[in-house]
Amino acid sequence: MDQYVVVGNPIAHSKSPAIHAEFAKQTDQSVYYGTLLGEEERFEAQVRDFFSEGGKGMNVTVPFKERAFAMCDVLSKRAELAGAVNTLMLGKNGEIYGDNTDGAGMVRDIVHVLNQPLKGKRILIIGAGGAVRGVLEPVFAQAPLSVTVANRTVSKAEALGKIFDCVASSFDALEGPFDVIINGSSASLSGQLPPLKDELVSEHTWCYDMMYGKEPTVFLKWAQGLGAKGADGLGMLVGQAAEAFFLWRHVRPEQAPVIAQLRSEM
Ligand code: ATR
Repeated sequence: MDQYVVVGNPIAHSKSPAIHAEFAKQTDQSVYYGTLLGEEERFEAQVRDFFSEGGKGMNVTVPFKERAFAMCDVLSKRAELAGAVNTLMLGKNGEIYGDNTDGAGMVRDIVHVLNQPLKGKRILIIGAGGAVRGVLEPVFAQAPLSVTVANRTVSKAEALGKIFDCVASSFDALEGPFDVIINGSSASLSGQLPPLKDELVSEHTWCYDMMYGKEPTVFLKWAQGLGAKGADGLGMLVGQAAEAFFLWRHVRPEQAPVIAQLRSEM
């Protein structure tokens, strides 16, 4: 049975093994997917050991995505642009190949599972950290009308503007409404809402939070209170896993039933 693993710290509560087990069942693939507690002092050695012992593929999560990026022999274009790697596999000559499926997973969730097109849309992205950097290339691949990145620390949004074709802004200078707003700031994690003006949203605005939870996030509550529709990032988690599964197994699993199952277990 081919062996796969997700490495991170902490890792015990990762949903990835359950997601990949479901994908394997659906597509009749013989795979085992486990967890590995990443160690600060020897993460790179853990990765090399896993592959030298015959492991087929590895997902990487917090806090190791940048270290995984740094140790790859070959990178996909999207991983290079993201500056981070969440999926590892071996190339033909034993080289470590790194990819980043987070952005493609988010875009697939938005466009194909939730049926919200991004093409031709005026998009606002909140935050300018690693999570946002990871999704910009796949968002641009959808041919939006414009992408504005707003961040508390404006210089970080400006730095992204040098790599991608996005407009950098402070929260204050934003002028809405936008067609689509994506929250990629980690503010939701601590139950906080970035200082967003109500006029950024109309009842036609569609909002997506990269975070997810049992209850709607503060960002989604704010948007829904203004009449907007939207979704949280549970489907992004499943989407990035589906993209990794596709890279490894060359078959594309169904995401919607897995999202529904995870939601029912929350
Ligand atoms: P991640 O990997 O989740 O993107 P990160 O790189 O630390 O984590 O980035 C966190 C992002 O959330 C940043 O854009 C951060 O804004 P700053 O660059 O100004 O720090 C944003 N963020 C976190 N807490 C926030 C808050 N309370 N209000 C607004 N933005 C917040």
